[in-house]
Amino acid sequence: MFGKTMRTRGLAAVVTVLALGLTACSGGGDETGGTGGQSAAPGSGPIKVGFSQLGAESGWRTANTESVKASLTAENGIDLTFVDAQQKQENQIKALRDFIDQGVDVIAFSPVVETGWDEVLQEIKDAEIPVVLVDRTVDTTVVDAYVTWIGADFEAEGTTAGEWVTVNYPDAKIFELQGTLGSGAQVDREAGFDTIVGQQNIVGKASGNFTRAEGKAAMEAALQAYPDMDLLFTHNDDMGLGAIEAMEAAGKKPGEDIQIVSVDGVRDGLQALVDKKFNYVVECNPVFGDQILDTIKKVYAGEQLPRETIVFDQAFDQTITQAEVDARAY
Ligand code: AHR
Repeated sequence: MFGKTMRTRGLAAVVTVLALGLTACSGGGDETGGTGGQSAAPGSGPIKVGFSQLGAESGWRTANTESVKASLTAENGIDLTFVDAQQKQENQIKALRDFIDQGVDVIAFSPVVETGWDEVLQEIKDAEIPVVLVDRTVDTTVVDAYVTWIGADFEAEGTTAGEWVTVNYPDAKIFELQGTLGSGAQVDREAGFDTIVGQQNIVGKASGNFTRAEGKAAMEAALQAYPDMDLLFTHNDDMGLGAIEAMEAAGKKPGEDIQIVSVDGVRDGLQALVDKKFNYVVECNPVFGDQILDTIKKVYAGEQLPRETIVFDQAFDQTITQAEVDARAY
């Protein structure tokens, strides 16, 4: 556990939040979770799981995939089919249809964007295969489209970042590097942050699609378009690291001439804090493969589940030490 955090959110390693009164997931369905009206009667042998990962766009995603694969193993009673969609929704929809054809017991997926899933979710529902949403959420009209969702509170991440900016740089001229447009992580982080700092303080926005290369390109253009910016809020570390390259090439000192506030907390991002190039990082913890395993087993067994499980996050500032960064698992 990191000792020098500016702010801690949540009460335990994983906080399970009963659905009552929560709004983060907008998919249809009853709010008490359960099996969502779908059946998956336990049989003998391993549970056949189809997992559609959205891509490999960031250090966060790589760590998440490793965690999923380390937990959903034959030793743990899982027969896993894992498919990487390379950040394309059409690839993900194809994978989901393949899982139906294969007759898997449970489908788990991290949707690249929130909308556009109604048809395939209805097909999955008709096939009576329960769905577990991982990391990101969907916005669907299909009732009981999924049993449960496990992931981080993206809006709270944006709020935490915004509060730090408001306290430390209240007059900042902010440029915002957005993640994949239409993804839950982009929509909710932006909403949380913008509400706190106020639109009048944001000089411009552009998407870097959560990748280092696109973050760098977006920052190069932004430095030309918004020469008065003095603070960057980036929706993930990878885009922020790309932005550092663009700033340095333009003769700007990241962390001094332009403050950088980021989300994720992968090792490279925390190293940038130690190097004084990032100023503040809100964590988004990708290592929850064991919770996904536990959730899938319960779904398969037909147990009642909360509608949402929120993964614990914390936040870091420049007081983090090199030893803490070196000890980071991802
Ligand atoms: O959905 C989680 C986000 O997706 C992470 O913050 C980002 O790095 C990843 O691409």
